[in-house]
Amino acid sequence: MKLKIAVLPGDGIGPEVTKQAVAILKVIGEVYHHSFEFEEALVGAIAIDKTNDPLPEATLELCKKSDAVLFGAIGDPKYDNNPDAKVRPEQGLLKLRKELGLFANIRPIKAFDSLIEKSPLKTSIIEGTNMVIYRELTGGIYFGERKLSDDGTTASDLCEYSQFEIERIAHLAFKAAQTRNKRVTLVDKANVLETSRLWRRVVTQLAKEYPDVTLDFLFVDNAAMQMILNPRQFDVILTENMFGDIISDEGSVIGGSIGLLASASVGNENALFEPIHGSYPQAKGKNIANPIAAILCAAMLLEHFGLKEEAKAIHKAVEQSLENNIVTPDLNSVRSFGTDYVGSVIANYILNTDDSNYVNYE
Ligand code: IPM
Ligand code: MN
Repeated sequence: MKLKIAVLPGDGIGPEVTKQAVAILKVIGEVYHHSFEFEEALVGAIAIDKTNDPLPEATLELCKKSDAVLFGAIGDPKYDNNPDAKVRPEQGLLKLRKELGLFANIRPIKAFDSLIEKSPLKTSIIEGTNMVIYRELTGGIYFGERKLSDDGTTASDLCEYSQFEIERIAHLAFKAAQTRNKRVTLVDKANVLETSRLWRRVVTQLAKEYPDVTLDFLFVDNAAMQMILNPRQFDVILTENMFGDIISDEGSVIGGSIGLLASASVGNENALFEPIHGSYPQAKGKNIANPIAAILCAAMLLEHFGLKEEAKAIHKAVEQSLENNIVTPDLNSVRSFGTDYVGSVIANYILNTDDSNYVNYE
C-alpha cells in the first residue's frame, strides 16, 4: 500500500515521540513492503514562533492532500500561564480538527496485563478492562461562540449541538459496539443541560437501528466515578466534546500511564492520529517521554487503512517491551530507559519476530 503521511510533531515532547512513531512505520513499511511517504509541517507554539500562526496555511494544505496525519502534541507554558494571549497553540489543533472534518475522536482504554500492578487502582478493579471512548470532536462548547464583556468581568462559552452532529458520531459508536461487546453508554448531563437532552433523544431514536446493541445512560459526574469504581462495566462510551476530553484523561489511570494512550480522529475524508497526552513541557528534550502512545497511534493509523496484521505486529512488540520492563520512567519500573531506546527496542521486536535474532541493546 502507498500512503502519504503528514507529520506534525508540534511542541514539548511531540517531536521526540513522533520520531519514534515514524521510525516504527518505516520498519513496518520495510517488513510488509509498503511505501510510506512522510512530510513534516509546523503546528502549535513552534508554528506561532516561526510564522505567528498556530496552523500555517502550508500545514493545512499538506494535511488535506495527505492520506493521514500523524500528530505529536501542542501547548506551551508561556501560553497556559497567560490568559490574555490572543493567539494560542491549541487554536491550531482545533482549527485542524474543524477544517479536516474530524468529528469523531476514538480513544481505546485497556489494562495491559503486564502493567496491572503499575496502576494506582487495585488489580481486582481494573483487570480485564477494555473500553473505547467515542468523543465528539468538532462541536459543543469547544466551538461555540465565546464572549468577554467590554469591562472584562463577564465571559461566556456557548455549547451547541445539532441532531446531525450527534447522529454521525452515534452511528460510528454503535457500529463499533457491534464488533465488540454490544453495549453503548451515552455519557451526558441530561438532568441539567438542554444539549444533553437532545443527545438522549437523538441517540435513543437511532439505537432502534441497532437492535443487537444495548444502550444505557450515565450522567457525567456518575460516569467519572464509575470509570474508576468499576471500569469493566463499559464497552463503548459515547459522549460530547468536553466530557470526552475529561473522562479520557481519567481513563488513562487504568492503563497505568497517560503515556500509553493513543487516539484516532476521523471524519468522512481525513484521519489524524494523536496521543492523548499533552506536550509535557517539563520532559521536553530529556529523552524520558513514553513513546508508546505515539507508537500505538501508528498502529491505529495502519488499522484505519485495513492493515490489520501490521497493526497487530506493533501491538505485539509494544506488549513485549512492557513485559520485559523496557519502559520509560512514567511506568515506575525499578529500572527505566530513554524514549529513543524504548522506541528502538520496539522496532527491533518487529524486525525480529523470531526472538533469537533480537539485538540486545543493554
Ligand atoms: C486533547 C487535548 C486537546 C483537547 C487540547 C490540547 C486542545 O487535551 O486532545 O484531549 O482539549 O481536545
Ligand atoms: Mn485532553
